[in-house]
Amino acid sequence: MKETKTVAPILEVKDLIVEYPGGFGKPAKRVIDGVSFNIAPGETLALVGESGSGKSTIGNTILGLTKATGGQINFEGADITYLNLKNRRKFAADLQAIFQNPYGSLNPGLKIKDILTEPLQVQRKLSSQEAGRIVTELLQRVGMPANSGDRYPSHFSGGQRQRIAIARAVSVKPKLIICDEATSALDVSTQAAVLELLAELKRDFNLAMLFITHHLAIVRNFADNVIVLNKGQIVEYGPAKQVCDNPQDLYTQLLVAAVPVPDPLAQAQRRKERHEKLLVLAKGTA
Ligand SMILES: Nc1ncnc2c1ncn2[C@@H]1O[C@H](COP(=O)(O)OP(=O)(O)O)[C@@H](O)[C@H]1O
Ligand SMILES: [Mg+2]
Repeated sequence: MKETKTVAPILEVKDLIVEYPGGFGKPAKRVIDGVSFNIAPGETLALVGESGSGKSTIGNTILGLTKATGGQINFEGADITYLNLKNRRKFAADLQAIFQNPYGSLNPGLKIKDILTEPLQVQRKLSSQEAGRIVTELLQRVGMPANSGDRYPSHFSGGQRQRIAIARAVSVKPKLIICDEATSALDVSTQAAVLELLAELKRDFNLAMLFITHHLAIVRNFADNVIVLNKGQIVEYGPAKQVCDNPQDLYTQLLVAAVPVPDPLAQAQRRKERHEKLLVLAKGTA
């Protein structure tokens, strides 16, 4: 068992509420409704739920890209809930993010070595020579060919671009990385390889991770704990294996049942069970 109780959490989210403006006289839309969780140093917490359940909103609020309406977010013990981007700069290295689409985050006009050098010089204040040496090490560490530094992002596949985004995120020695559907766009074998890389880096650097995905099946072995989010509220929160193997909440059971299984007979049985549960859910909300 990992000792998580005695160390101070790296991230504390308390009673988070996020509302988006309704526009044109419509009332504000509450998409996060009283969400609380902690992440300990080195812990991986998966945040799962269907599309639209509010996962990205939580990640973006922690990153300061979306404004909280209520509640509190503490990072390394400091209240960052309402800090503007300028006042967040001192946390910039410690809190990194990797998104689904690395096209958006890797400047297409820059060579890979320049993309990776910039944060090292700005945030770690390294000389260009030191930064260059570390870029070479980083590329090797994330499994990129040695000559990748002189190429542009467009030269690489989706999986390789995600490796570059990972290299950039870990280069500044963060304490917490928020991965928002970071492997969701990749084919199954590339996804497995990138997850393996992330797992290695977590271990080597004692990284904490908020791993956001709509894909419950991949978190069983990857995460320590899992939160299941439904319509902006936590419906289940517990150790990953427990949540995946023995879900207590009806909504989680539906997510588990929705995971395709290779055995067609088992699949048919699951479909039947899922259908029955949907009927129960529908009755509950009628
Ligand atoms: N900028 C925004 N303005 C208004 N509504 C938004 C905005 N971003 C997301 N939403 C809405 O908030 C809800 C949660 O979205 P999101 O956090 O992206 O969910 P997820 O990442 O789980 O798919 C959805 O209903 C979505 O339509
Ligand atoms: Mg999302």
